[in-house]
Amino acid sequence: MKLELKDSSLLKTQAFIDGQWVDGDDGVTFAVLNPATGDVIAEVASVGQTETARAIAAADVAMQEWKALPAGQRSGILERWHALIIENIDDLAAIMTIEQGKPVFESKGEVLYGASYLKWFAEEGKRIYGDVLPSASDRRSIVIKQPVGVVAAITPWNFPNAMITRKAAPALAAGCAIVLKPAAETPLSALALVELANRAGLPAGLFSVLPSSRSSSVGGEMTSNPTVKKLTFTGSTPVGKLLMKQCADTVKRTSMELGGNAPVIIFDDADLDLAVKGALVSKYRNSGQTCICANRLLVQEGIYDAFVEKFAAAVKEFRLGYGFDAETTHGPVVSKKALSDIDAIVQNAVKQGANVVTGGKPSELGNCFYEPTVLTNVNDSMSIFSEEIFGPVAPVFKFSTETQAIAMANDTEFGLAAYVYTENVGRIWRVSEGIEYGMVGVNETAISSEVIPFGGVKESGQGREGSKYGLDDYLETKYICIGGLQR
Ligand code: SIN
Repeated sequence: MKLELKDSSLLKTQAFIDGQWVDGDDGVTFAVLNPATGDVIAEVASVGQTETARAIAAADVAMQEWKALPAGQRSGILERWHALIIENIDDLAAIMTIEQGKPVFESKGEVLYGASYLKWFAEEGKRIYGDVLPSASDRRSIVIKQPVGVVAAITPWNFPNAMITRKAAPALAAGCAIVLKPAAETPLSALALVELANRAGLPAGLFSVLPSSRSSSVGGEMTSNPTVKKLTFTGSTPVGKLLMKQCADTVKRTSMELGGNAPVIIFDDADLDLAVKGALVSKYRNSGQTCICANRLLVQEGIYDAFVEKFAAAVKEFRLGYGFDAETTHGPVVSKKALSDIDAIVQNAVKQGANVVTGGKPSELGNCFYEPTVLTNVNDSMSIFSEEIFGPVAPVFKFSTETQAIAMANDTEFGLAAYVYTENVGRIWRVSEGIEYGMVGVNETAISSEVIPFGGVKESGQGREGSKYGLDDYLETKYICIGGLQR
């Protein structure tokens, strides 16, 4: 499968450091694979510790001028970057589909979603307000907000565009510089994005992109280098914990968007069709490879059988296939390793007594295709209740009472997103307040956008991305006391 682009110069295979396209110092490269076919798409430069240190030093220099610019000038560059992304949406989507696997319609949706963060923070960057505090004595107390400093970012493969702009846009709008390591599975989307940032006029050094297959060298430098004042990470909870430990020595600020185990709680009084639709969208978006994907469907006993019948019938209609085929509704998972982890979870559940209603095995389409799966006869003592599946597998659990549903929802170390389907207003409040999650969708699972504070509690992380709260993660609060006013 050959990648056809309108603008072939968007396909970059070098690192972008201090405004220059460069190979790694030792010339090492790594292969980026098309998960649908297993073919090598490109060999990409693999940078290490020394190139990371250079990018950080350049970021520190570049941000001195950048942070002193009027916010409107920074905003203008973010607006131009946004416009270029929209102009190049077809190419960006094609690059994403070939390296990540998601169908082109989903890739286009993600490019728009990613671009929305640039537009949003171009505006929000003009509203970084301070404060004057009331004072009882001969002094005035003032609060100002300043950029936190050089930001290091590590982003995942499941959203190879939007998870980058969600970090880069607020960092740059706040006056910071950012040094980014994209996932080794999907560096091409990141490199195309930085090419467009460069074309938009972003000054050299403010945004370096460091592709690498040597995560620990790049991550080690990012977390230990004292010039980096903040690390922002989206990925798994175990890696997030390790990065937080590594950041402790230089007391860096961190934002962590980590794993999830999202329940979709469907009560007997729910609108059944709405609940089925919402659960389908949430569970199978990006072939189940989303931190806020439904991981556990918790369905009340009175509606359970009707729900399973409708839900499984809709899943059987999915068209698994190559992301570039127009009829494909769901693509492959990202790698053979991902597929074997998903299959191990399913086979383990089956051994423990789960029934496969549909799917339950790898597809014959290729090494990374897994059949969309629905499992019943599952319960909270099985390992599938507590594992983050990260694949197209829906275990449907049964519950009796509201109290039991809340307890089941909270019976996890994670706390990212949860969803509730009910027509009872009192229950909406009771359950939304009773469950320990950073985000709750009521009668809705498509909850993400640039205007909302995305983030979790418990071991799902800390910090919020997007919304009016998202800039705070890139700002320091400084108190200035002016005394001696009566002299
Ligand atoms: C994620 O999987 O972390 C991102 C999902 C989203 O932004 O909707």
